[in-house]
Amino acid sequence: MKVFHLSVECYPVAKVGGLADVVGALPKYQTKLGLEAAVVMPWYDRPFVRDHAFSIVHEGAFYQGTELLNYAVYKEDDNTLGFELYLIKIPGKLDRQEVYCYPDEGEQFIAFQHAVLHWFKEKGIVPGIVHCHDHHVGLMPFLMKYSTEYNFLAEVKTVATVHNGQYQGWTHWSKAILLPPFDSWKWGLLDWDGLINPLAALIKCCDAYTTVSEGYLEELYVEANGLQQLFYAERKKSVGIVNGIDWEIWDPETDYTLIENYGDAQAFAGKLKNKQALAQQYKINPALPLLVFIGRFATEKGADLLPDIILRLTEKYYGRLSIFILGAGDPTIQSRVKSLVDNGTENFDVFFGYDENLAHWLYASADFLLMPSRVEPCGLNQLYAMKYGTLPIVHQVGGLKDTVIDLEKDGYGVGFDSLTIPAITDAIARANAFYKSKKMFKENQRKIMNLDFSWDKSAAKYISLYNQII
Ligand code: ADP
Ligand code: GLC
Repeated sequence: MKVFHLSVECYPVAKVGGLADVVGALPKYQTKLGLEAAVVMPWYDRPFVRDHAFSIVHEGAFYQGTELLNYAVYKEDDNTLGFELYLIKIPGKLDRQEVYCYPDEGEQFIAFQHAVLHWFKEKGIVPGIVHCHDHHVGLMPFLMKYSTEYNFLAEVKTVATVHNGQYQGWTHWSKAILLPPFDSWKWGLLDWDGLINPLAALIKCCDAYTTVSEGYLEELYVEANGLQQLFYAERKKSVGIVNGIDWEIWDPETDYTLIENYGDAQAFAGKLKNKQALAQQYKINPALPLLVFIGRFATEKGADLLPDIILRLTEKYYGRLSIFILGAGDPTIQSRVKSLVDNGTENFDVFFGYDENLAHWLYASADFLLMPSRVEPCGLNQLYAMKYGTLPIVHQVGGLKDTVIDLEKDGYGVGFDSLTIPAITDAIARANAFYKSKKMFKENQRKIMNLDFSWDKSAAKYISLYNQII
């Protein structure tokens, strides 16, 4: 059986967030478990694509509305990621640098899915499983069943993974002419509240859907940006499978981006060396515990709360904590954070932008990682942080609740239940007090570095799900 993962992100080809990490790791670990797994994604004008050898394995053309689109399927020659990687290139549509935010994004995603179907048809490819990640590829199960040209795939089983139910790919019905012809009696499967809703179509038409933690699945039944009823109605085919960590990339003992590698026995000293090096470049004090935030500046991540958290911390703990923020996104949040830097807030620095190596360096330098997320389907940052011996301080939602157990409940992290500035800063104060009891802090460091958030277990769960639906 061969599974094709369809996604618009995959690390290290094109990454915006955790979706890429998952799609770059899950197929690799599935392959290690003996399954044939491949990733199909759009072609991007990015370093990985330029620096690796690819061959064109198929070329074709189809109409999107009245526009004839030519496409080519590129396969990476050496499977350097540990699985087969296919890129779909469509000149003018899928040949750009960025993954998201183009004005014709919806048309790009339709073109991607249509090209995959066309390629499968022309080459006679009948996958064992088509595994669709998020709404960008949400129309696949519908088209495989009900499009008149591609329903030779109707019996192929499909799995949907919901990485984030907030984004659904809403598309006006006037765009329906861009889809390959389909059985018009079935239009209702595409619709939610008067719009084409690819996430809703995915959940309605797939054979099984998964969420990236068990806690998030329960939350989706209650609140899913309008789709909660649907998630609940389809719950019989749902399962929560928590994400893992790719230990070939995220391991402080071998991570080549670090100033100093360290194992669990020398974590405190190893982290200090990384922090000291960081302090040479940024305005933090290496003698103080370091709190970091890494992530998209979005309200979903609670990034809008950062300025007030920092203000409160610098009032109360002035001189006792350094803070570093790595992120980009919402310009309002960014300018509020920037004004704190410009005002000369002490022991506080920021890097606005996306920098993979700096993220690794921060996980390795930090003592605490803060995640005040409003919504967190799984969250990978807290898993990486723990692997690097960094104490997670997290809002108890979704995957954060599942993966971070509070010290007070015999666990190993710090949680807070309400998303208020006092609750968050109290949690940070609790972490800081724990840091001072060095012996216990170090013991806990060793504990969190050895927690098993491996992909082996979760990849095996996906495989047993495939077997169940087949
Ligand atoms: P999400 O996908 O919702 O953004 P996750 O916690 O699943 O959240 O994954 C975020 C991933 O993106 C992690 O690998 C994290 O290290 C990385 N990341 C987020 N923001 C940045 C940034 N500004 N620079 C580098 N890496 C980042
Ligand atoms: C999404 C979620 C995040 C999750 C990631 C990978 O981006 O917001 O919580 O970890 O997908 O599944």
